[in-house]
Amino acid sequence: MLPAAVLQQARDEILDWQGSLMSVMEVSHRSAPYQSLAQKAEADLRQLLSVPSEYQVLFLQGGATGQFAAIPMNLLRKRTKVAYVNTGIWSQKAMAEAQHFAKVVEVASGASSGFCHIPAEQDWHRDEGSAYLHYTSNETIGGVEFHSIPDSLGIPLVSDMSSDLLSRPLDVSRFGLIYAGAQKNMGPAGVTVVIVREDLLGSAIRETPSILNYSLQAAEKSMLNTPPTYAWYLLGLVLEWLIQQGGLEAIAEVNQEKAETLYRAIDDSSFFHNPVVPSCRSQMNIPFAITPPGLESSFLLEAKKVGLVNLEGHRSVGGFRASIYNAMPLSGVKALVDFMVDFERRYG
Ligand SMILES: Cc1ncc(COP(=O)(O)O)c(C=O)c1O
Repeated sequence: MLPAAVLQQARDEILDWQGSLMSVMEVSHRSAPYQSLAQKAEADLRQLLSVPSEYQVLFLQGGATGQFAAIPMNLLRKRTKVAYVNTGIWSQKAMAEAQHFAKVVEVASGASSGFCHIPAEQDWHRDEGSAYLHYTSNETIGGVEFHSIPDSLGIPLVSDMSSDLLSRPLDVSRFGLIYAGAQKNMGPAGVTVVIVREDLLGSAIRETPSILNYSLQAAEKSMLNTPPTYAWYLLGLVLEWLIQQGGLEAIAEVNQEKAETLYRAIDDSSFFHNPVVPSCRSQMNIPFAITPPGLESSFLLEAKKVGLVNLEGHRSVGGFRASIYNAMPLSGVKALVDFMVDFERRYG
């Protein structure tokens, strides 16, 4: 969900943006007002994440999936191997795409637990010759999240933060590159944020399409071609909203309370179950199931009747999943918990 205040502002400005008598969708991306909108969004993102000056911030298209290919194309730097930590479905999709460009070394895998844990760092099979080390900060489907930044031992660290960027403070200086599709904590689908250290730029492989080439995009301020103007505008409004909430420390506190509230309810119940090892549980996406199975459709139907929607687990795993991104208030989580307690009382 997006913050209600952001949607209300977008509604109010839809026919007349900043006195232009046009929607922001209708103005040219080269116009001065749009250019300042774009610059403000970048400045706000830099402020929220304290992005060091030697990093480029790009607003691209093609989703995080586009980045699965762009990353090896741009960052191989004449090496032949790339290292990936496999913590679930999104890691695997990133690895599959990287395989088109380089030998993919799997340094660690959560397969032994059905991707319900993150292997301890001391057990990772490091590969010093790799161009970079990639990990998925939050596995959106499995509900597995890193709660500290791994040590990449000098190799540029790359992270897919599609589903947890801006949910908590982050030390950007530990990374070579961070990327995230906006559609979880940052805005609507259509714009993808890439934060990349400048010294990694300039060596894209020859076949890299221009729109996936970070150096070219950086030189053109992410406007090598027409950018997703409305998505960028909404992203800017979400960033302003986040600053008004008190920034990442403040939102992290709320996010922690939300997650603890829901995990407590699941763990206190003998009816609902979350399979993830507690130290690796996601604060953003909380999958759960009912044991014994068979009540899934009643749960979803009754939840919908009281206004609790989008609780289906990802189609690849089934069960339920509560995605409690920044815009979800604590009251929303409490409403879900109340419903779960009542459902268990009636069916448990
Ligand atoms: C962690 C993660 N990586 C990548 C993706 C793919 O993102 P996109 O649909 O923007 O390509 C998703 C989408 O849900 C995701 O959650």
